[in-house]
Parts: sequence; C-alpha cells; structure tokens
Amino acid sequence: MKGIVLAGGSGTRLYPITVALSKQLVPVYDKPMIYYPVSTLMLAGIREILIISTPVDLPQIERLLGDGKQWGVSFSYAVQDHPDGLAQAFVIGRQFIGDDDVCLILGDNIFYGQGFTGMMLDAVKNAADGHATIFGYPVSDPRRFGVVTLDADGNPVEIVEKPEEPHSDKAVVGLYFYPKGVADIAANVRRSQRGEYEITSVNEEYLKRRLLKVKCFGRGFAWLDTGTVGSLIDASNFVEAIERRQGILISAPEEVAFRRGFITDAQLLSLAQPLSRTDYGQYLIRLANGKAF
Ligand code: DAU
Repeated sequence: MKGIVLAGGSGTRLYPITVALSKQLVPVYDKPMIYYPVSTLMLAGIREILIISTPVDLPQIERLLGDGKQWGVSFSYAVQDHPDGLAQAFVIGRQFIGDDDVCLILGDNIFYGQGFTGMMLDAVKNAADGHATIFGYPVSDPRRFGVVTLDADGNPVEIVEKPEEPHSDKAVVGLYFYPKGVADIAANVRRSQRGEYEITSVNEEYLKRRLLKVKCFGRGFAWLDTGTVGSLIDASNFVEAIERRQGILISAPEEVAFRRGFITDAQLLSLAQPLSRTDYGQYLIRLANGKAF
C-alpha cells in the first residue's frame, strides 16, 4: 500500500502565522505538524509516500523531509496548483499510486490512542480485499465535517459533507484507505455546490457499491484538529501533557522508523545526535541505547 499526505491549502484561518510559512510546518508542541501524519502512515507500515502541497510550500516541506532515506522510507513530491478539493489527491497522484492500494491522510490531522495501529492494519487488509475504510469520530458539532450515519449493525447508510442537519454525530476523520482503482473513481467526481472535488463523493461511490467499511474511534481516542489558533494550541497542550507525563514522544518519525525496523539503532543514533540539545533528541538517544521503554 502507498500513502499520500495532502498538505496544501491556503492556511488563511491561521493568518498571519501562515502568510510566509506552510501550515503543515507550523509546530505542534515539539515538532512540525507534518511529522504527525507522516508518522501515522509509517505506523501503518507504509513506506512509499507522496507529499502534495502548493507550489510555494512544497520546496520548504521537501527541505524538511528530504527523500525519506533517513527514516527508511521514500518521499515523492507533487504540486496541487489550487486547493480544489481532497479528491484531487488521487488524480494528482495517479501515476504514483499505479496499481496499488492507497491511504490518504490530511496534513493537519493528528491521531493518538491505544489500538490505533491495529485499526489501521485492519484497514490495510480491507483494501487488499477490495474495500475502502473510513473512520468515524463522535464530535459535538458534526456540521463542520463529513458525517457518516450507521445502521444498527454498524454498516454505513449515508455519508454527507457538512450537513446542515446531521443525522449522526460521527465526523469522518481525515484518514482514508482505498483499494486499487480509487484514482478512476476520483477522476469521475464532479464539483460540489461549494465548488470542490469532495472526498465525500469518493466515499459515496464506495458506499453505493457496498464496498465501504466504517470503523469508529472510542471515547479514549484523540483526533485533533489544527485548523485555528485555538485548536492549534489545544493540540500542542495535549501533546505536551502526554509526552511530559509519560516520558514518551508522540508521532516522532525517527522512533516509528526504528520500532518498525525501517532503520537500525546506529542509524537512529546518528539522526538523534544533531538534536541532542533538545528533549526530543535526548529521548531518541535513550531509545537507540536501549534505555527507553
Ligand atoms: O478533517 C476532516 C474533514 O476534512 C472531513 O470530515 C471532511 O469530510 C473533509 O471534506 C475535510 O473537511 P475540511 O473542511 O476540514 O477540509 P479543508 O478544506 O479544511 O481541508 C483539509 C486540509 O487539506 C487542510 O489542511 C487543507 C488541505 N487541503 C484542502 C483542500 C480542499 C489541500 O491540501 N488541498 C485541497 O484542495
């Protein structure tokens, strides 16, 4: 399975922070925002990753992430000229995807919770069986999101983008797993009333074909939004609270690469050395030396 991080958009809700800086490079506590979605893909075992962003922001992102070899993965880069909708990721990424299954993650989505990796690995299997998987998360104001409604057996019956009168409280999060062929479906999506190629239209097509599975996150799970200054500081505070209390790092790609066996302890150590003046680097050094849990 391949992975795509969609990291474009104009970031206007974070102005003036994002006038000269890609939104996805803004820090969330101790690391750039894009580290979180990249780590999520790596946790799912995905090692070929396409990063899509604006023509202006892409070079900055590439400067940060490079070709991926340092983390035992491979990054490719592609431009989205205009933020015309999430479904465009598959049209832009068509060649990259080739004949593979693919996972799309939004560059500003942060996930944290027990059992998460297992849920993603199930979704990877579903894709190999020809099914798409999306994830539902209960929210207090579903009108801001794609909303999925389930029947009594947990099967999806309806999915609507930003409904004025939602039929459920389950927001669809920005993490989607698809079987091969999603680029063909995306290419046939028409612009919505708000003028975008909606990912929800792609999901509706899988629903219509009875090939859509929905997994729901439980109460203890954190799905954090980083769209506004308020939610950005909330996300930073959340990450700080867990990291300091438990003495761990959340979504450090170096750690994921090491634990997944993409890099050796010696490689981890050499990645950590330049960061040694930070708690982040010190943690990675302990990890490489077998002194972190
Ligand atoms: O966060 C989950 C939600 O994401 C889903 O529940 C919705 O169904 C889905 O449509 C999307 O809704 P948003 O209104 O949050 O999408 P937004 O336009 O804010 O875009 C999400 C991120 O993707 C944002 O950081 C900008 C980036 N983006 C967006 C578009 C439309 C791109 O890189 N390119 C784009 O064309």
